[in-house]
Amino acid sequence: MTEFIHEPVLLEEVLSALQPATGRLYVDGTVGGGGHAEAILEASGPDGRLVAFDCDDRAVAAAAQRLAKFGERLELHRSSFAEMAKRLTKSSCDGVLLDLGVSSPQLDEAERGFSFQAEGPLDMRMDRRQPVNAAQLVNELEAGELARIFWELGGERRSRRIARAIVEQRDMQRLETTTQLADIVERACPRRGARTHPATGVFQALRMAVNDELGQVQAGLDAAWSVLKPGGCLAVITFHSGEDRLVKQFSRCLARPYTVRGGVDVPELREPREPLARELSRKAVKPGAAEQERNPRSRSAQLRALEKM
Ligand SMILES: C[S@@+](CC[C@H](N)C(=O)[O-])C[C@H]1O[C@@H](n2cnc3c(N)ncnc32)[C@H](O)[C@@H]1O
Repeated sequence: MTEFIHEPVLLEEVLSALQPATGRLYVDGTVGGGGHAEAILEASGPDGRLVAFDCDDRAVAAAAQRLAKFGERLELHRSSFAEMAKRLTKSSCDGVLLDLGVSSPQLDEAERGFSFQAEGPLDMRMDRRQPVNAAQLVNELEAGELARIFWELGGERRSRRIARAIVEQRDMQRLETTTQLADIVERACPRRGARTHPATGVFQALRMAVNDELGQVQAGLDAAWSVLKPGGCLAVITFHSGEDRLVKQFSRCLARPYTVRGGVDVPELREPREPLARELSRKAVKPGAAEQERNPRSRSAQLRALEKM
């Protein structure tokens, strides 16, 4: 098994948003290799505490090893961040971090099946206790449903063509590996000089569907908000537009000085109220040139942070 190395993205920016301090309680909903967690625990010494979650067994094992030096200041759970409200008291936390998506080790380990660049099983589960994997979706969903997933979650314009090609192939032989799938997509949609592999959107979409990532983000935002105390900060790092849209919408709704009757935001239906949150910056914060150069995987990262009022 390879070493678990993941470089935390936007680290300075996350610390500047959370302002970790001694005696306080923080949550890392996506502990991964423990990079952000370690920095939060160091900055909140000598007795700040961190409750950390990850649904990936390997991430939890790696984080436990890296963070063992903090002893009882750390509480680690192998669980979804959507469950945090079950483990923490309402309005008890000073800061919550969600660093969404996959970690570098998940992408780099062929046997996890996240990448089309290496031969591996079509798995893509972050939590390997869950029953549904990518092979099941690819082999069992109807063509129309596959096309919808590729279009809605992967932004794939040739979604129907790809779904048809998959169904034709699986009728002859069950699809088991990442490279089988990548080859089918490439044959259906030849690369013709494009820089990105034609299967990029399909792999992203399948990963998001297998792990119900958008559902998890929404549930995680709600859970994080309920455990935060007034004055506490929620910091969320996203890696694609679907996730960022949810976070932006969540944050805008809380930060506006009114509610809307019926859910449609038109001036006639607005009812004034005090804002429930303050956005730390109106625009999402992106990695600077130096970080992007040092860590190319940080390029699509965006941080939004908001303070609970
Ligand atoms: C980008 S990595 C986090 C890296 C981490 N901040 C670090 O410094 O090493 C994202 C992590 O979130 C985890 N994850 C994704 N969805 C999750 C969920 N719904 N609940 C808990 N963990 C999740 C993944 O397993 C992965 O380890």
